[in-house]
Amino acid sequence: MKIILASNNKNKLREIREILEPSGIEVVSQAEAGADIEVEENGKTFAENAFLKAKAVYEMTGLPVLADDSGLEIEALDGAPGVYSARYAPEGQRKAKVLAEMKDIPDEKRTADFACCICYIDGQGREHYFEGKCFGKIGYENRGTNGFGYDPIFMYGGKSFAELTAEEKNKVSHRALALKKLKEYFVK
Ligand code: IMP
Repeated sequence: MKIILASNNKNKLREIREILEPSGIEVVSQAEAGADIEVEENGKTFAENAFLKAKAVYEMTGLPVLADDSGLEIEALDGAPGVYSARYAPEGQRKAKVLAEMKDIPDEKRTADFACCICYIDGQGREHYFEGKCFGKIGYENRGTNGFGYDPIFMYGGKSFAELTAEEKNKVSHRALALKKLKEYFVK
């Protein structure tokens, strides 16, 4: 089966392919499907934003589409950056902003999670939602060079997400957990 990914984010495309393709699900980027758009993510929740992105590409193609909306939620910052994760500061300054805000926060209060909501719109235009969360802690410095986004400051066990291999991250990440539910839906 073939699904279009409503995203221009190459890292998400790579991870989603790594997770779905072993199950025989081919993931085509929106660009490859001819849907050259950038959707304004003005929803208040991950689910609303995932829906906005999936709907826009579904309306252009009429084919099954999935969209991922995701972000980092930090307890000590009342859930920030949350749905604003991609816009929390200018490119290249987001992790530094979080580290600065967390400077005086003690170890036991550095809990955080990565959250992901997948919106899948099937060939009949029906919406389906799948969510995943991965719990960890905010580190004190950037660690590792794998992954993307906030991975170098998100500690999972003794390592940051950017110190894990793609295979290790894809077993436990918020995105992997949400996509596992999507795969279970397909085999039902
Ligand atoms: P959006 O879903 O396009 O709004 O963007 C989500 C933003 O959250 C990304 O640009 C990253 O900054 C962050 N994010 C989401 N998932 C991950 C992840 O797996 N690792 C690191 N950062 C992530």
